[in-house]
Amino acid sequence: MSIAVIGAGNTGQAVVKLLGQRCIEVFTSRHRPSVEALKHHQGAIVFVPTNAAAQTMALLQQAAIPVAWGTTGMRFDDDFAQTLRAPWVVAGNFSLSMIAIKQALHALGRWAQISQAAAHCHEVHHRHKQDQPSGTAKAWQQWLDYPSEISSERKGDICGIHELTLTTRFESITLKHQAHSRQLFAQGAIWALDQLLTHVFAPGLYDLSALIKEPGTVNEAND
Ligand SMILES: NC(=O)c1ccc[n+]([C@@H]2O[C@H](COP(=O)([O-])OP(=O)(O)OC[C@H]3O[C@@H](n4cnc5c(N)ncnc54)[C@H](OP(=O)(O)O)[C@@H]3O)[C@@H](O)[C@H]2O)c1
Repeated sequence: MSIAVIGAGNTGQAVVKLLGQRCIEVFTSRHRPSVEALKHHQGAIVFVPTNAAAQTMALLQQAAIPVAWGTTGMRFDDDFAQTLRAPWVVAGNFSLSMIAIKQALHALGRWAQISQAAAHCHEVHHRHKQDQPSGTAKAWQQWLDYPSEISSERKGDICGIHELTLTTRFESITLKHQAHSRQLFAQGAIWALDQLLTHVFAPGLYDLSALIKEPGTVNEAND
C-alpha cells in the first residue's frame, strides 16, 4: 500500500517512522506535493503547519484520494465537504482516546448545565505551535456544549496537555489529557487512514468517532 506523508516535521516524522515500508513518498516545503504526484498514492496523511494548509487542501481535493488530516487551525465547512471526491478524516487530536473523551464531555456538559458549573480549559503546547487556542481545546469546548473559557500556554517541547476543570460551590471535576509522545498522534492518524482504505466510506468529512460506528454504515461528520 502506498501512502504519502505531507509534512515531515515533529509529527510527520513520527508518522513516517511508524509507517515504515508503507510510506512511499514524503513531501515537505523542499519537496512540495503536486496533484499528479499525490494521485500515485492510495492515501495521504497531513501534518503541515497552519500556513501551508490551504494550498495542501486544494491539492488533495483535486487528487481525490483518502486523507487523514492532522493540521490544526483550519475550518472545514459543509460547502467544502460537498466538494470532496474522497473520504477525509479530520482530527485536531488523533489520539484515539478522543473518541471516549468526546462521549465523556457530552455527559459532563449536561451535568454542568444542571449544576451551573464554571468551566475552564487550560492547554499547554511547545513554543512553535502556530495556532492558539489548540484545535483540541476548541473541540473539547464544542463537545462540552456549555460555556467555557480556554487559556493557553506555550513552552518547551510539550506535545500537548489539556486540562478541563468544572467547578461548583461544593465540588470540582477535572479531566486531564497529556500526550507523552508525538507517536500517539502518528499512530491514530495511520489507524484512521487505514479505516478509510479498508472500509467503504462515501466522499466527505469524518471525525474519529464516525470511524467506529456500526460496520456498513456511512456517517458524515464535520468535526
Ligand atoms: N491532529 C493531531 O493529532 C496533531 C498532533 C500534533 C500536531 N498537529 C498539528 O500538525 C501541524 C504540524 O505540526 P508539527 O509540529 O509536526 O509541524 P512542524 O514540525 O513545523 O513540521 C511541518 C512540516 O511541514 C512541512 N511543510 C511546510 N510547508 C509545506 C508545504 N507547503 N508542503 C508540504 N510540506 C510542507 C515542513 O517542511 P520542512 O521540513 O521542509 O520545513 C515540515 O516538514 C500543526 O498544525 C499542529 O498543530 C496535529
